[in-house]
Amino acid sequence: MQGGSDELNKDSTISGTKQAKSDKDYSIYFQPPSLKEAKKRGKEDVQVRYESAIPDDMKTIGKGRKYLIRTFGCQMNEHDTEVMMGMLEEMGYEPTEDKLEADVILLNTCAIRENAEDKVFGELGHLKSLKQEKPSLLLGVCGCMSQEESVVNRIMQKHAFVDIIFGTHNIHRLPVLIKEAYYGKEMVVEVWSKEGDIIENLPKKREGMKAWVNIMYGCDKFCTYCIVPYTRGKERSRRPQDVLAEIRDLARKGFKEITLLGQNVNAYGKDFDDIDYSFADLMDDVRKIDVPRIRFTTSHPRDFDDHLIEVLAKRGNLVEHIHLPVQSGSTEVLKRMSRKYSRELYLELVGKIKRAIPDVMLTTDIIVGFPGETDEQFEETMSLVREVRYDSAFTFIYSPRDGTPAADMEDNVPEQVKKERLTRLNELLNQISREKNEQLRGQTVEVLVEGESKTNPDVLSGRTRTNKLVHFRGPKELAGRFVHVTITEPQTWVLKGELVAEDAARVV
Ligand code: 5AD
Ligand code: SF4
Repeated sequence: MQGGSDELNKDSTISGTKQAKSDKDYSIYFQPPSLKEAKKRGKEDVQVRYESAIPDDMKTIGKGRKYLIRTFGCQMNEHDTEVMMGMLEEMGYEPTEDKLEADVILLNTCAIRENAEDKVFGELGHLKSLKQEKPSLLLGVCGCMSQEESVVNRIMQKHAFVDIIFGTHNIHRLPVLIKEAYYGKEMVVEVWSKEGDIIENLPKKREGMKAWVNIMYGCDKFCTYCIVPYTRGKERSRRPQDVLAEIRDLARKGFKEITLLGQNVNAYGKDFDDIDYSFADLMDDVRKIDVPRIRFTTSHPRDFDDHLIEVLAKRGNLVEHIHLPVQSGSTEVLKRMSRKYSRELYLELVGKIKRAIPDVMLTTDIIVGFPGETDEQFEETMSLVREVRYDSAFTFIYSPRDGTPAADMEDNVPEQVKKERLTRLNELLNQISREKNEQLRGQTVEVLVEGESKTNPDVLSGRTRTNKLVHFRGPKELAGRFVHVTITEPQTWVLKGELVAEDAARVV
């Protein structure tokens, strides 16, 4: 078993020097996080804990104070932010969008590529003067970057005005860390290199009609370019009854769309040793809950099995959209990325999915310029994109991440070539998106209305079941409702359309 309590966890998972910074019973230790340590995957059980995260003496500490959290990176981070917002509000803090009136500012960071890290250091530069003008401001850095020793050292040396650094496995400790920062003089650093228990019942602040639900934490895939398995720890699935209870509760509260989250949702349940329950089983159970739309992200092609395809083909609230990251169309490159599937296997899977769900929308992630990627290998990515015909894709230039195996490979593709490949790939993807959207001209689609468009307040904005963006004219009161829109002007990024008359008439 790996630590049933936080104290145990600290002692059992961290190697290296420990210095108590305080002799209080909630002492904070400075523990340099280690990617090497994080890579060790033991057989230890992960315990599920259901206690409250807010100590009694912290329940009013935020009264009269305001907080702001800036979130970088993926949906997992967005959702972690919701948890931190929930905790801060249970401590009495109120939200603000204005840095100048914030008493606590947290940067929830992303480590996936170098430019994500650069943005955070840029933001820290801006916050320095704010901290100088308002020394009572509490500044914290959390998220994936905090799991990297080099980042923690850089902040301690060059950005010593930061008050708290805490890792992805320490989020539930936020109230205790804030208390330490208020009462202590030194920077509070708490980063566990290895994952701890699964903490249920943490408060979450959710707004609007869409909600994220974590079904698992961590990743054991260790793709050679990726830092996530180190920063997020080993795969740990939440118990099905906890996930289902959370979704039922959201359904009762009237949420219209739920996205199940995990770094590799297809590995859900593989870590249970007492029950045989997979991601397909979970989706089949979620299907029976009265929520109009259920999505999931992100899946790994390797673990995407026939049972799951069968369940998704039942549709209902399970939407026809699958994000299926391919990364490269070349079997050789996929091997060096340690993706554990070939181009052929991926295409076979896509074929199966399309046969079972003919109107499925497929999206993907692609990396160009991976070490050693030749022109021919890049052309294989282009031909795979032509064959699959993705509706859209996230595309990236490879960015070496310290501590990952690919960072030791020779990064021999010239920068200019990487950029040209990215441009060509994006042009192809855009052309396909445009063509696919064109097929929707004249069709009527179901749209969940989000509200006024960010770019044009005269227009309402919403999403189809396949997550395509739709703009149309209509009364603001439709926000949060399902309507039908006839597509009149499909474009690459947005489908413009007209509200069908019956839906317009429903609004009084
Ligand atoms: N460089 C570039 N892109 C990366 N991704 C993950 N790690 C890297 C990296 N080192 C991309 C992958 C992944 C997405 C979330 O980010 O495509 O699917
Ligand atoms: Fe990273 Fe691969 Fe895990 Fe996705 S599956 S988080 S790309 S290691």
